[in-house]
Amino acid sequence: MENFIFQNPTKLVFGKGMIARLGELIPAGKRVMVTFGGGSVRRNGVYDEVCAALAGRDTVEFWGIEPNPSIETLREAIALGKEREVDFLLAVGGGSVIDGTKLIAAGLLYDGDAWELVRKGASQRTVPLGTVLTIPATGSEMNNGAVISRRETKEKYPFYGNYPLFSILDPEKTFTLPQRQVACGLADTFVHVMEQYMTVAGQSRVMDRWAEGILQTLVEIAPEIRKNQHDYDLMADFMLSATMGLNGFIAMGVAQDWATHMIGHELTALHGLTHGATLAIVLPGTLRVLSAQKGDKLLQYGERVWGITTGERDERIRLAIERTEGFFRSLGLSTRLSEEGIGEETIAEIERRFDARGARYGEARNVDGAMARRILEACR
Ligand code: NZQ
Ligand code: ZN
Repeated sequence: MENFIFQNPTKLVFGKGMIARLGELIPAGKRVMVTFGGGSVRRNGVYDEVCAALAGRDTVEFWGIEPNPSIETLREAIALGKEREVDFLLAVGGGSVIDGTKLIAAGLLYDGDAWELVRKGASQRTVPLGTVLTIPATGSEMNNGAVISRRETKEKYPFYGNYPLFSILDPEKTFTLPQRQVACGLADTFVHVMEQYMTVAGQSRVMDRWAEGILQTLVEIAPEIRKNQHDYDLMADFMLSATMGLNGFIAMGVAQDWATHMIGHELTALHGLTHGATLAIVLPGTLRVLSAQKGDKLLQYGERVWGITTGERDERIRLAIERTEGFFRSLGLSTRLSEEGIGEETIAEIERRFDARGARYGEARNVDGAMARRILEACR
């Protein structure tokens, strides 16, 4: 196990009716900018509950942070926040609203254009923020990451800002999610765990079993959720899995991959494909191309997550990858580029972009432009 320092400061406020606690979570005397997406919160009662909890507080609303939040929209929010001198942010929505709000939090204390913050990759000075999460997927509610897009140039990059001070998670608020968003959220959560687990065998028994526990939970609940998305306990398990999948708890002292995500972000930037949907296509390809490098871990994963205990080593590894792709298909997601009409032109552009930025992703730092091409060709 590698040396590590772990600290996660986000207060998790979980369960039915917990939005009512907002008033006591936001420090007194703050001018709060409340940020939203396109309006789903008006249809599931979240907006009304937030307003009731903030009655009498000094608030400014900003609407319209879109899926894959864009710098173009966020610049408007930053301008409004500066004009109104807000000193607390409350993101109400999914990963996109939360990610966008993390950039707003840094942008409010930055004099230049906020895109410079994205390209520099980190910001120490931020306005504090809290969140009310409405979709389990990204883990953004309990990490300091964000992913920001630039429509003008069809780019999408990670950015690191501040951890939310608190995040409220009420599983009932996920009942209104469209089935495709649920599928994409399950796939995203699954792949987050895989990015931190499917690397080198024998690093940490504790990290391995926590990761496998989340993967097993997802495999168990996914078919039940597809039958009944209004089951509180199922959605509570899903929501907690998503948060625990990317809040640092399964990453202590172990290698991480993230090549699938970096390739997936390009597919979203170039084609607008939903984040989780890109991962369902790319992960099986990554595993096929890197099956020798990841072989020992694939064997362990096959045995512990999919119960594959017999057969030759190569056959077991092949089966573990097949079961992974089958899991994504069982969610109703495509697992091949051709199903989304994506072909050579996109593969060439991603190879070019990776080469241009000198990319070397993955736990072995060997996913460069040429390797990205091999992975994408294995997803055709
Ligand atoms: O905009 P509204 O009207 O709210 O509708 C949203 C949006 O259309 C809707 N929705 C959310 N909650 C709902 C709901 N509809 C009905 N009922 C509800 N309860 O769902 C749609 C998708 O929302 P979005 O926030 O885009 O989804 P998600 O949470 O999956 O976020 C995706 C973004 O997060 C980034 C992705 O790249 C993408 O930009 N990621 C962020 C990460 C992080 N911060 O750590 C890590 C991830 O790997 C990921 O890259
Ligand atoms: Zn993701």
